[in-house]
Amino acid sequence: MAIPNSFDILQAVIEATPDSIFVKDLEGRYVLVNEAFARFIGKAQTDIVGKNDFELYPAVDARAFIEADRHVLATGAPQTFEGVATGQDGQPQTYLVSKGVYRDKDGHSLGVYGISHDITELRQAHETLEHTREALFRSQKMEAVGQLTGGLAHDFNNILAIILGNVELLQARVPRDQYTDEIIDAVLRATLHGKDLTGHLLAFSRRRLLNPQPVDVNLVVAGIVRLMGRTLGATIRVTTSTSTDAGLAFADPAALEAAVLNVALNARDAMPDGGSLTIHTSTVAITTPPVTEDDLQPGLYVRIALEDTGSGMSADVVARVFEPFFSTKPGSHGTGLGLSMVYGFAKQSGGTVQIASELGRGTTVSLFLPLAGNDVQPVAPDTAPVTPAAVPRTILVVEDEPDVRSIVRRQLESLGHRVLVAEAATEALLLIQGPGAPDVLLTDVVLKTGINGIDLAEAAREARPGLPVIFMSGYTAVAEAQQRIRDTGAPLLSKPFTTPQLERAVKAVCASLR
Ligand SMILES: Nc1ncnc2c1ncn2[C@@H]1O[C@H](COP(=O)(O)OP(=O)(O)OP(=O)(O)O)[C@@H](O)[C@H]1O
Ligand SMILES: [Mg+2]
Repeated sequence: MAIPNSFDILQAVIEATPDSIFVKDLEGRYVLVNEAFARFIGKAQTDIVGKNDFELYPAVDARAFIEADRHVLATGAPQTFEGVATGQDGQPQTYLVSKGVYRDKDGHSLGVYGISHDITELRQAHETLEHTREALFRSQKMEAVGQLTGGLAHDFNNILAIILGNVELLQARVPRDQYTDEIIDAVLRATLHGKDLTGHLLAFSRRRLLNPQPVDVNLVVAGIVRLMGRTLGATIRVTTSTSTDAGLAFADPAALEAAVLNVALNARDAMPDGGSLTIHTSTVAITTPPVTEDDLQPGLYVRIALEDTGSGMSADVVARVFEPFFSTKPGSHGTGLGLSMVYGFAKQSGGTVQIASELGRGTTVSLFLPLAGNDVQPVAPDTAPVTPAAVPRTILVVEDEPDVRSIVRRQLESLGHRVLVAEAATEALLLIQGPGAPDVLLTDVVLKTGINGIDLAEAAREARPGLPVIFMSGYTAVAEAQQRIRDTGAPLLSKPFTTPQLERAVKAVCASLR
């Protein structure tokens, strides 16, 4: 076999490699380029030889290449640069180029050689990875903050229940004058404000009791637009672009309305000098599997998008908008809980929220909610009036917090009921089966010792079928627990509750009793 000469071998290798190889003289003119280089430039090799970078590339690219060449010639050492060049097809290519000085056999510089490797795909893969890692980190952070705020809200609700109940009882007892009325009012207002705040925190931590049902999102949007007419001011134009086949979302109607309203109010705040808000609805199909917690599961979703022409947000702000208490609004203008609630609601409903925003250009906030099966009809809100039944009952209160227990007891006694109390389920079950058994079981959902309130209610109904039950809770933990509470058909009072709320619940569950 004839061995090819080394020049032919070199030539074959240079032409076969997918990397661009080139040699320039001291004036920056190309003296040799390989096939890969010619392909990137989009010219024949012979048309490139003799030309300089300004004749082949956009001026910005050419300047950067020449600068790098000068650096290599000045130092004499080979160097590697990363950069972006635009080829003949107009597509930017990210490359890694190694450049060095090429010399004659006496060591005199003759020019610069370079080998350039295309790393566009590698870079893109790297960026995708970085992006995914950030998204993962963000969703884990939100999860942790959610757990923290959920626990906090739970404890805080117990405290508020004690304050609210005691003040109400005090109100009924102390001699009334303007001075005491003002003080009591101030305490009541502060407590209710606190309850509102903890409600928002619970929504964020996905622990609010939701009652999902098929809702027509176009009707929700129409309602919001009517309301907006009064709250958005004259300089903001609200239009809708609703799709008739947007379909029914499966979500809690009241929470959905509150969520859309929150997003719309943010749009208003972002357009102090006027602008326009467009609300779009549509159905979207998600087909790709989720990468992070924040991605949707494959399936059909209803999308409600609110697009404003307001101030927009920087990427840093977008990254933080769902955090509770994150607000850029001055002073007490924003609590920073609006989007936190929207986020918690969407996630708890099996959907998500996405934000696209550009500083100075405006913002689009998209709410995704699972599409309800097309054969389901929207459920009409339950407006059945509560039948009054001012009958004194014997009510068993199961609550592990002594102060909450005694305030609920006093609230019930002030309504004329007889009260039995228990700290844990075992004690409660004995009372239910014993003499002087209660007419109603009022139990906390989370009990520190023994079985929880839901298990207790089930056991109690086994012993006493049809026993009226009312649950009370500072929060409702996981979705399964919520489902189990719904399955019992018993109402849930969220702490803190007022005496009239308590009485309404008692009347409702006793309606079937004689
Ligand atoms: N449409 C929007 N355009 C520009 N910035 C927005 C928009 N929506 C939200 N933001 C930014 O996100 C921040 C957080 O919003 P979020 O609704 O959670 O709280 P807030 O509006 O500041 O307070 P709150 O809703 O509790 O009154 C806002 O302070 C604002 O900086
Ligand atoms: Mg807001």
